[in-house]
This record gives sequence, C-alpha cells and structure tokens, in this order.
Amino acid sequence: MSKVSLVTIFKHRVTQKYLQRSGVNHAVSVAYNAFDLASRRGVDVDLAAKAALLHDMGHYEWYRDGKWDYEEYRRHDIHAIKGAERAHKLLIRLGEDRLVAKDVSLAVLLHTDSYLPFELDGKRTDLQQVVTEADNMDEQPGGLHHYKEMSRSEAIRLLKKLDQMIAEFQAGDASRSTTG
Ligand SMILES: [Fe+2]
Repeated sequence: MSKVSLVTIFKHRVTQKYLQRSGVNHAVSVAYNAFDLASRRGVDVDLAAKAALLHDMGHYEWYRDGKWDYEEYRRHDIHAIKGAERAHKLLIRLGEDRLVAKDVSLAVLLHTDSYLPFELDGKRTDLQQVVTEADNMDEQPGGLHHYKEMSRSEAIRLLKKLDQMIAEFQAGDASRSTTG
C-alpha cells in the first residue's frame, strides 16, 4: 500500500514550485500514461505514477516567449539529475518508504538519456522503461508539452482519481495473489 498519495505529493510547496516550470498538465498526463502501462506489464503502479508525476521536476528556468532557446537548453540540460535529487528529498521529507524513494528517484534519473554520453535502450528496468515510454507518449516537438495548461483544481481532481485507481488496482492485486 502506498504511504504517500499523489495528491499529497502534488500539494507540497516544492512540487508546486518545480512543476509550474515543467508543466502540471504534462506531469499529470504522464502519471496516467504510466499507470496504464504499469498495470498492463506487472510493474508497481504506485512507483510508476509517482516517478511519472515527478519525472520533470528537475527542469529549471523555462521561458515561454523566445527568451529561452530550446536547443541551447537541451545542450546544457541536466534536468534528470536535478529531478532525481529533488524527488528523493521530497519523498523522504513526506515520510515515504526509503526503497520507494530510491526506485522513484532512479526512474526519474533514467527517464531520458539525452544528457548522457551513451544510450539506455535495453538497459532500463521495467519500471524505468514504463516511465520513459509514458513521457514519450506525451511529448510534442519543441518542448510544447511543457506549456499545456491545467488548473490546480483540475490537477488535484485527476490525481485524486488516480490515487483511487492505484488503491483499487493494488487491492485487486493483493486478493489475486492470496487466492491464486
Ligand atoms: Fe517529460
């Protein structure tokens, strides 16, 4: 059972600060994609949704009106490293299980290999692969997916629903493993 809900994570001031930069809409969409993929592949849906929600929290200084050059940004980008550190610190602070915090942090670190001198294809764990694919499903050219709008209240409504879906899925999983 998950110790910390997606809504609790989302409402934290640290999450609010960093998700405003990379896009709340993108974060919530990727969390839903990750739940969907994880539930079909036998991957922990709670870990997948948490890593997906937080995967871009390492982004910094996204400007909208041409002040920031996207290609230039990509050249200097280490958002996955920053995000992994931030996600880990946040989850520990919220009282999350340490192993969950570590696995989520690693999935954030490896959701892209654009900043690495080598490729990660075929090397990711199932959880890391789910988060990567969930992110790619929502990606738009030029980083436009970071600018899709979503209000705070709509995000909370959707994350409450996803928390519920995760709890129901885990309850079903538990009963399947005890009866089967
Ligand atoms: Fe992303």
